[in-house]
Amino acid sequence: MTRVVVHASGELLAAAAAARLITALVDAQAEHGVASVVLTGGRTGIGVLEQVRRSPARGAVDWANVDVYWGDERFLPDGDPERNETQAREALLDHVPVDPERVHPMAPSDGKFGEDADAAAAHYAEVLAAKAAPATDIAVPRFDVLLLGVGEEGHTASLFPDTPYVKEAERTVVGVHDCPKPPPTRISLTLPAIQAASEVWLMTTGAAKAEPVAAALAGAKPVDIPAAGARGRNKTLWLLDATAATQLPTGS
Ligand code: 6PG
Repeated sequence: MTRVVVHASGELLAAAAAARLITALVDAQAEHGVASVVLTGGRTGIGVLEQVRRSPARGAVDWANVDVYWGDERFLPDGDPERNETQAREALLDHVPVDPERVHPMAPSDGKFGEDADAAAAHYAEVLAAKAAPATDIAVPRFDVLLLGVGEEGHTASLFPDTPYVKEAERTVVGVHDCPKPPPTRISLTLPAIQAASEVWLMTTGAAKAEPVAAALAGAKPVDIPAAGARGRNKTLWLLDATAATQLPTGS
């Protein structure tokens, strides 16, 4: 099921998405005991985490029972301010009592894999596989909510148009090279891994995103608009501000 929700501003989108995320985590914990979320980078994704931190409802989540993964990572040294992990920790994770054993960052470029992003990606695939439920059709754990942003040319996570990475049909995690959005080297979940999530939330703002948003929702091919391939098993939610929704058919 795909749903589009348009908020009047980016600030309202971030606050409303934060409230929605808190509720989704609480509901997942009520059902499964443990909730799992896949984080993303970018202004919108990090802005939502900041709003979760500021929310008076954040304490409703049993943070020690939340599994945290990343949908993509900028392959930079540990602690680099541009890393999605660094920004997520500053925005939220350092302010709530998560269990460090349940927080699964993608490797930095100065870690045990050195500068080898492909080895780091393969290792993350092993981390996901080790937590996969038995007899699932793809070797990733249950992802209750997978957060994504959308780029001006339609990229999502670190999957960019017309690349071998957006076409990847077997591996769950890939090292990504020569990215148009700096830094050039990244690690990313692939579309099959993204599509294993129960819910995928694509969150974006700004007039520059209106075209890829409209194209994705009109059924563009993922090779052309990778965000078009970001679908959840149970729900795909597009959370937009008014300017990112300007090219949608009226009444969307
Ligand atoms: C990253 C993100 C990337 C981001 C989009 C949108 O590492 O940059 O994973 O996919 O979500 O580029 O970014 P904005 O929300 O800042 O437009």
